[in-house]
Amino acid sequence: MTDRLYDHLLVGASLATLDGDDYGAIRDGAIAWRDGVIAYVGPRSGLPGDPASIAHAVEDVEGWITPGLVDCHTHAVFAGDRAVEFEMRLQGATYGEIARAGGGILSTVRAVRDASEDALYAQSKPRIDALRADGVTTLEIKSGYGLDFENERKMLRIARRFGEGTLTVRTTYLAAHALPPEYAGRADDYIEAAIDWLPRLHDEGLVDAVDAFCESIGFSPSQTRRLFERARSLGLPVKLHADQLSDLGGAAIAAEFGGLSADHVEHTNEDAVRAMAAAGTVAVLLPGAFHVLRETKWPPLDAFRAHGVPMAVATDCNPGTSPLLSLRQAMQLACTHFRLTPEDALRGATTHAARALGLADRGMLRVGLRADVALWRVNHPAELCYWLGGDLLQARWVAGRRT
Ligand code: NIG
Ligand code: FE
Repeated sequence: MTDRLYDHLLVGASLATLDGDDYGAIRDGAIAWRDGVIAYVGPRSGLPGDPASIAHAVEDVEGWITPGLVDCHTHAVFAGDRAVEFEMRLQGATYGEIARAGGGILSTVRAVRDASEDALYAQSKPRIDALRADGVTTLEIKSGYGLDFENERKMLRIARRFGEGTLTVRTTYLAAHALPPEYAGRADDYIEAAIDWLPRLHDEGLVDAVDAFCESIGFSPSQTRRLFERARSLGLPVKLHADQLSDLGGAAIAAEFGGLSADHVEHTNEDAVRAMAAAGTVAVLLPGAFHVLRETKWPPLDAFRAHGVPMAVATDCNPGTSPLLSLRQAMQLACTHFRLTPEDALRGATTHAARALGLADRGMLRVGLRADVALWRVNHPAELCYWLGGDLLQARWVAGRRT
């Protein structure tokens, strides 16, 4: 067989490259890759030859092609569910009250500790599959329901297992998520323990980034800083659950440490937004948690825009505040609740989300980037944010492999 320019070539669809204004749209486009890397993006008419002579495989497709979606904030590995808390909240209990009464995150911690590694994997798998089925090709998964060395390790090992096939998984160490009962009243001691576990888990190759829940029902700014100093000394990037329920200056701490992202950020003030802009820290919007908790305080969206802070959108898939199994649905919620344009929501779930994970090789359709590609059954890319539910994904390729 003669050598061809491309391994695989898709023709016939329109492309939302996100490389340029107006979705970076190219009608009647073509995209081709070789060795898992995009080698051509442009109009079909610009191809350097007859499709069959330049590519080993050519597919004539219809619809729109976007970059594979990147879900940059999830807690998708967990056991059990918290539907009863949903009922309690609808009857007036708040998330904070339930947490202080020993429910909330700690109830999931009990379920995770009780589950074997295989059982936890099996319970989590349908969620990962659902996220993939709606276009996700890169997924961040946090620990944070183990809260002791072995159980944090168990969660991170499972997250890694989900990344062994055709899905990129980035793991985040979130031992500083809640105070486990065995450390009641001793939060400083617990943070020291969590700091101590970090290099051991990092040595096992289980940690890509470090996160904390900086909040009155989580950990204080000074405890967060201590953990982040350890992360920095290990060369690990940080991200933070920041300013979700109150303004403890979390986003500013994330920026101070050159953080990849500050997440939730409903209560973030404008000084912190400036610090994020200067540090290149992405704001990760989590409209699922906003929606489920029936919050009313918006993140400072205008300030993010004014200061040029990129806004990512993620599911925050978790059993408490965001039992959300579709990143497209999160994009929909970002449009309806936060008035993002569908284009901004799509960039938020691709380009900006990749940046929130420190991944410079994906998130757009551009020559030289990884061939992470989603093909959708839509007539316009705004439809990705328009439908509530539905089955819009026709096909996905991860590093050029159809999955
Ligand atoms: O991102 N805010 C803290 N962490 C999660 C919720 C986790 C849970 O309630 O289980 C969040 O919303
Ligand atoms: Fe979260």
